[in-house]
Formats: sequence, C-alpha cells, structure tokens
Amino acid sequence: MSRITRNLNYSEPIEVEEGVFWVGFCDDESGLHCNPYLIIDNDEAVLIDGGSRPEFPQVMMKVLKTGVNPHHIRALIYQHFDPDLCGSIPNLENIISNKDLRIISEKSNNVFIKHYYVTSGLLSIDEIDYKFKFQSGRELSFYKTPYAHAPGSFVTFDSKSGILFTSDLFGSYGKEWELFLTLEKECFNCADYNDCPNKKDYCPIPDLLNFHKEVIPSGEALKQAIEVVAKVPLSIIAPQHGSIIHKADDIAFVCEKLFKLDGVGIDKLAHNRAGNDSGSIEGLKRRLAQK
Ligand SMILES: [Fe+2]
Ligand SMILES: [Fe+2]
Repeated sequence: MSRITRNLNYSEPIEVEEGVFWVGFCDDESGLHCNPYLIIDNDEAVLIDGGSRPEFPQVMMKVLKTGVNPHHIRALIYQHFDPDLCGSIPNLENIISNKDLRIISEKSNNVFIKHYYVTSGLLSIDEIDYKFKFQSGRELSFYKTPYAHAPGSFVTFDSKSGILFTSDLFGSYGKEWELFLTLEKECFNCADYNDCPNKKDYCPIPDLLNFHKEVIPSGEALKQAIEVVAKVPLSIIAPQHGSIIHKADDIAFVCEKLFKLDGVGIDKLAHNRAGNDSGSIEGLKRRLAQK
C-alpha cells in the first residue's frame, strides 16, 4: 500500500515506499529542489544522487534520522556528474568512513566524478553488468539514457519498491513545490495551462515541460529516454528535482507529454542555413583564402 499522504513534514526524511526514503531539502527560495534518496535493505544502504555541498548538512541530518548507521552505506550512485548531485561526495565519504564504500556511475561520468576529490573506489555500471545486488538478493538495475541530459546519464530501477530513480529526467523548476505530484483528470485534456479549469493557483505542468526544454539537449534524446523508461515495469518515478510521480495515469500522461514535446534543447535554436553566408563553411574558406 502506498505510504503517500498529505501534510508532509519536509524537515524529516519521508518514506516513499518501505525502506526507500526521500532525504532531500525543501528550499522555498531556490526553485530547484534536490531529491536524494536512501534505500535501506536490512543492514545495508545505498544513497542515490546524494546532493550538493551546500545541502549536505540537511541531507545528512535526514539520512541519520532514518536510523541508518552511516557505516552501513555500501554505495553512492550518481546518475550523472553534475555538482547538484555529486558536490557532497567528500563529505559523505568522511562520515560513511568505510573502505569498502563504492561510487557507482557510468564510465563517461566517472571521468568527471573523480574531480570531486573522490577517495573511494569508482565503479562503472557496465563493470557490474548494469546491476547492484544487496545481500538479501534485492537488485537495482541500471538503464542508460544517453544525452538525457549527460552523455552517460542513466536511470535506476528498484524492483522491490517499483521505483524508477530518474535524476534530471522528469525533473522540474518551480518555486511552488510538493514532493508528490498532484494532477487531476481535467489536467490530461487541459487546453491552457495558464487558465486552470479547477481554478488552482499553480499548475506544475509548464515548469516540468520547460525544465526538459532547458536541460535536455534535443528532442531525440528525450524521446529515446522516454522509450527506455517505457520498457521498465515501474510504478513510481522519483526524479532528482521536482516531484515524485506516483499515480499510473499521471505517469502515462507525463511520459506522453514529454515524448511529444517540441522545442527541446538545441531544437529550438535550429535555423535555416540557406543563403546565410556569414556563418557558412564556404564563407569561412573564402575569408581565410583572402588573408
Ligand atoms: Fe544535471
Ligand atoms: Fe540536476
């Protein structure tokens, strides 16, 4: 049964499903809420997209409030290499203080992740056959989503909870924020997101779509990533920004909306090059030849 309830206290860790905790930080001023997640399985734990350096105290406080012993954190998973998820690696390594701690990402991410002054062993997902196994037999599976938004981006599926952790994919900007996305059935056919048929003050859909237009490099990258997600037997989508999508109809709606989204990344800057001499290779050759 879902644990999702209203009136959540964001100063506490929030259990999304049994043993899976949101340990993020709610900042009304930032507009970019970061959502690290902790999975606890018996005496082991894994932290996904652990967060930035400035957010470390709040994240670590929530990790401790779950009751986990930090030394039992076996792995830190980073689904790409940005500082908003990797910035606190040295702080986490200090507190976890476990020589067997492993940092898991994709090999092209690891080229950058090592520059966070990492001292733990770095593993790439292909080296571990795209799976992380707890001693209980529980598995996390990794699926590559290239260029959504980093070349080495991937998503992580926990088959026990049915949660797919998606990093920036399904993320959102926005000062109005709730941990769990709330859509109504009227949202699915809404003609104008700026004029809510339910007269709500805030619609989360424009922020979610605009985030993908800004962050994902192209519509093709977004389409391919949604096709990867569509193959996973998920029941909940947990992104690193924005809100957790936990209702089947909402998941289907958001996936379709993103798959059909126009003007993503460089696509919105595409222009007609015919007759444009100033930026052409032929124009460049002519000018070089004149020197
Ligand atoms: Fe990112
Ligand atoms: Fe991010």
